[in-house]
Amino acid sequence: MRFYHHYIFPYLLDLAMSSRAFRKPRARALAPASGRILEIGFGTGMNLQYYPPTVTRIEAIDPDLDLDRYSQPRIAASRIDVDFHHLDAEHLPFEGERFDTVVSTLTLCSIPDVVHALGEIRRVLKPGGQFLFLEHGRAPDAGVARWQDRLTPAWKPLGGGCHLNRPMRELVSDAGFRLDPVQNYYLRGLPRIFGYMTEGVARRD
Ligand SMILES: C[S@@+](CC[C@H](N)C(=O)[O-])C[C@H]1O[C@@H](n2cnc3c(N)ncnc32)[C@H](O)[C@@H]1O
Repeated sequence: MRFYHHYIFPYLLDLAMSSRAFRKPRARALAPASGRILEIGFGTGMNLQYYPPTVTRIEAIDPDLDLDRYSQPRIAASRIDVDFHHLDAEHLPFEGERFDTVVSTLTLCSIPDVVHALGEIRRVLKPGGQFLFLEHGRAPDAGVARWQDRLTPAWKPLGGGCHLNRPMRELVSDAGFRLDPVQNYYLRGLPRIFGYMTEGVARRD
């Protein structure tokens, strides 16, 4: 598994994250990004090309050192100045109320303690700040959800800790955010167990 995580997983992740199916949703999700921005779960840096032109600087975190060989060249080539740290979202070292925007795309599925991480995201957001997210998760259809439950234990070690069955809308809302607005849909081009999306803006009032 060590070899897989060091060499194969980063390649597969980069391939999966560059899927055409995510292009429009990424651009839509990131369109409102403004002010002081933190991206959690930066991954291979796929979002850099989707920030609006007004964004010139972001802070970004990801705990996985093996992704650097993909993310660092993207950072170097980007017009955006990225202040990157190897950190996990459950333990953000930033003072409270620092950011206007926090961004997470396809990341809440992989964070071990997602409830704690959402609490941290809320803490570092200014009052009125926005959490922009695009996540896949638990489908409303019982048949799909049953398969998500069945497959998650086998999928998790292969997919970098990814849970197929997290109820994203509820998790974000239960963390104390106001959903403003948030949409759910099956993403065309992906199997339904991977492609039930929750996308939008959650606000810290
Ligand atoms: C499926 S990838 C998505 C990457 C990127 N956000 C994108 O949209 O292309 C999930 C990411 O979550 C990161 N991750 C895993 N555990 C994390 C944690 N505790 N805190 C922050 N990020 C984490 C992984 O390292 C990985 O980069």
